[in-house]
Amino acid sequence: MSVKPGLFISLDGVDGAGKSTHLEWLITQIQAQGIEVVATREPGGTPLGEQLRELLLHQAMEVKTEALLMFAARNEHLSQVIEPALAEGKWVVCDRFSDASFAYQGGGRQLGVEAMATLENWVHPHRQPDRTWLFDVPLAVAQERLQHAREPDRFEQEAQAFFQRTREAYLLRAQLHPQRIHVIDGHRSIDAIRHELSQGLNQLFKRYHEPL
Ligand code: ADP
Ligand code: TYD
Repeated sequence: MSVKPGLFISLDGVDGAGKSTHLEWLITQIQAQGIEVVATREPGGTPLGEQLRELLLHQAMEVKTEALLMFAARNEHLSQVIEPALAEGKWVVCDRFSDASFAYQGGGRQLGVEAMATLENWVHPHRQPDRTWLFDVPLAVAQERLQHAREPDRFEQEAQAFFQRTREAYLLRAQLHPQRIHVIDGHRSIDAIRHELSQGLNQLFKRYHEPL
């Protein structure tokens, strides 16, 4: 008997926009429907990917190297974790995916959209999340929230202009893919955001349960 493939959800946004705050809650909501969920993250999600994450977050490197390693980790992640889970009917909830490369490497690091599109087309020409929630807040809010966070990594140490470019690249991507990417105004209460996410989840459950 063929298994109905699971859905792929990603959460994204500049550091401090608030996505991690909703991750566990989202997973619980999906599990409450009796659906098995694989929770994972990028860069990371596999043993090699987690090693690459350590390097990416803490080791200085050329900008192109950084982009290539993001996609190298992603390639492992897709083939070892994401694709098998979806094929088994599990849902995958991923803390960041390729939109982060378009935003941070394409925008923040100024490698541009074309270079990212080339890597994306090579690594996952036929796979995109079924839904991406892009958390967006004014930069001042994100920075203020990060002040209270732990030791900053290589990205979190970047200047304001870097995050401005990153945020703009995210929003451009959302404009280009309005069906998939839903922008969440993260400058609201956690409850208000959850209400919106919960409506979005209900749409996904409906889509998933519809007969093929
Ligand atoms: P991200 O994962 O996007 O970097 P986090 O979810 O870790 O961001 O949130 C960063 C900080 O902001 C945390 O201290 C968190 O408690 C706080 N935070 C998250 N969402 C909100 C919100 N809607 N209102 C106020 N503070 C928030
Ligand atoms: P994240 O796990 O969100 O960090 P934290 O646990 O501190 O919230 O993401 C790690 C960093 O990696 C984040 O600053 C964004 C960056 N990143 C990229 O630059 N490009 C990418 O493709 C991905 C997936 C992440």
